[in-house]
Amino acid sequence: MIYPQTRLRRLRYNKNIRNLTSEISLRVDDFIYPLFVCEGNSISKEIKSLPGQFQLSIDQLILKIEEAKKVGIHSFILFPISESKDTCGDVGISDNNILQKAIRKIKNCIDDILIVADVCNCAYTSHGHCGTIVDGDVDNDITIKNLALQSVSLAKSGADIIAPSDMMDGRVKIIREYLDKNGFEKVPIMSYSAKFASNFYGPFREASNSSPKSGSRSTYQLSFSNAREAMREGQLDVEEGADMLMVKPALSYLDIIYQFKLNYKLPIVAFNVSGEYFLVKSQEKNTQFNNIELAIEVLTSIKRAGADIIISYHALEIAKYIKENNEIR
Ligand code: PBG
Ligand code: ZN
Repeated sequence: MIYPQTRLRRLRYNKNIRNLTSEISLRVDDFIYPLFVCEGNSISKEIKSLPGQFQLSIDQLILKIEEAKKVGIHSFILFPISESKDTCGDVGISDNNILQKAIRKIKNCIDDILIVADVCNCAYTSHGHCGTIVDGDVDNDITIKNLALQSVSLAKSGADIIAPSDMMDGRVKIIREYLDKNGFEKVPIMSYSAKFASNFYGPFREASNSSPKSGSRSTYQLSFSNAREAMREGQLDVEEGADMLMVKPALSYLDIIYQFKLNYKLPIVAFNVSGEYFLVKSQEKNTQFNNIELAIEVLTSIKRAGADIIISYHALEIAKYIKENNEIR
């Protein structure tokens, strides 16, 4: 049947019918809010390229988590800003590393939350690469051992979910083995399965002081031309025992999110990364357009593509908006 009997606008004439026929909507429970933790006291330093996001010392981090909890956010991913660095990233293994200290403290004073620990070496290496360098390149098999030890130390500190973001081969398998061997068989692995060598990580690297001093991450992160290779990464992570699969970045990779959703039964996580957040914030800064609606549109598109879980710097502002307005589209 065609026009005039069929009129698609019938379902759009008012807000209630639009809401009634809405196919998906964002829930605050979909969100993981990323936070940066640094050494020191009373530090809450806005990150220039991530307006509205801060480098936080542990005391301030706790206040921020409490603020987010009030509007219904229960999941957080923590990124370390490390003052000490070494050639292999071994500082990350120490129980006294900034991330471990932060997680212990948070878990001590806030209940009913999930802490996801990002596992990688780039915040801890003097050269800024994600692992140990041998003969001019990151050595895979040395690095994954290091990541497995880091994961055990983080789980010991109370991390609820381990999220390796390094893109070494075989790291999910060895991390699972080490966690299990140390009594952490209940701790899930959220694998950054399809992490692309993206130009959208700039603001994050500035925030966490983790840029490679020379070279690029292209010998371990995926090429943005390769969707089929991303599917192989996802497949291997399923076989190695990952509990959730992540696609990162999100916006330029909605096709990958969609294919992951169709092909794998695991929860699909999308990371709406720092450069994507920056784009939305630049529109806000340079125009009078409604920024929160733009952020909601972006996150809804990521969910529509197939993401079950969204990591986004927009999480807190959107959760506040949902709470204040008691509705979402
Ligand atoms: C560390 C890591 C990065 C991000 C998350 N974990 C940076 C990178 O790989 O260079 C990026 C997050 C963002 O841009 O918001 N490996
Ligand atoms: Zn890294």
